[in-house]
Amino acid sequence: MTNLSTKHLLGIKDLTADDINLILNTAENFKEVINRSIKKVPSLRDITIANLFFENSTRTKLSFELAEKRLSADVINFAASSSSVKKGETLIDTVNNILAMKVDMVVMRHPNPGAAVFLSKHIDAKIVNAGDGAHEHPTQALLDAFSIKEKLGSIKGKKIAIIGDILHSRVALSNIFCLQKLGAEVMVCGPTTLMPKYIHSLGVKVEHDLKKALEWCDVANMLRIQLERQDIKYFPSLREYTMLFGLNKELLDSLTKKIVIMHPGPINRGVEITSDVADSDQSIILDQVENGVAVRMAVLFLLAGRA
Ligand code: CP
Repeated sequence: MTNLSTKHLLGIKDLTADDINLILNTAENFKEVINRSIKKVPSLRDITIANLFFENSTRTKLSFELAEKRLSADVINFAASSSSVKKGETLIDTVNNILAMKVDMVVMRHPNPGAAVFLSKHIDAKIVNAGDGAHEHPTQALLDAFSIKEKLGSIKGKKIAIIGDILHSRVALSNIFCLQKLGAEVMVCGPTTLMPKYIHSLGVKVEHDLKKALEWCDVANMLRIQLERQDIKYFPSLREYTMLFGLNKELLDSLTKKIVIMHPGPINRGVEITSDVADSDQSIILDQVENGVAVRMAVLFLLAGRA
């Protein structure tokens, strides 16, 4: 298999296990490329990609831009905060004006769930969802899967606990879809108020005791409390949240086995994870960031049909 079954990357839900494995295997080749002294290949020469960010980002935005440049694509960047969106221009008008400049692919982050799907119904260019509200963040799940496979050798049968604000997390949903398609067992752990009502329909284990979740898992993926998406108070205080669901060194060292620690970033140090855990030899947080470039190169390369 050398082609994806989808035209766009809107969410992990749309991908088959074969699609995911194709992306991960292709990313392995690109990881080798980006570790060479000459890190650039001509694979996407003559392809123009627009990065449209309607919401803040550090890792995803820079990682996509670097991936595109490593593949020799022409790149334009758009930040809604400094654009004519501020003057009332609609999403469709904004994107159609950008496409009129002969753009082939669109990478979009948007605060509204479903924004990438909506766009795919109205424009011809290929679309990569770089995060849409609390819905999906497919390239984050792919780079997380790549990083777990790299660290543990395989994903099938591994036990992954996703811990924190599951309700507002697009990373959680995309990870659940991705890891289950690859044969992992997934547990979510957090306060009852930060679990979506439909969580049991996703086929995951649900735990509210952090120590039990950590004892069960091979990998703990710690999530940030997404205060920017919380319209009401879901727990009494950050201090109480940290006491019940924060990962610290004492807790990590009390476990009977050495687990792998992940975090998609941005980290709120001292809230969901302490600095000594985030920076410990059990943490693969910066490997995730490194792998993000290779994984995004693979996604863009495969969607462009250059395989
Ligand atoms: N992990 C992630 O999506 O980080 P950014 O919001 O900085 O892109």
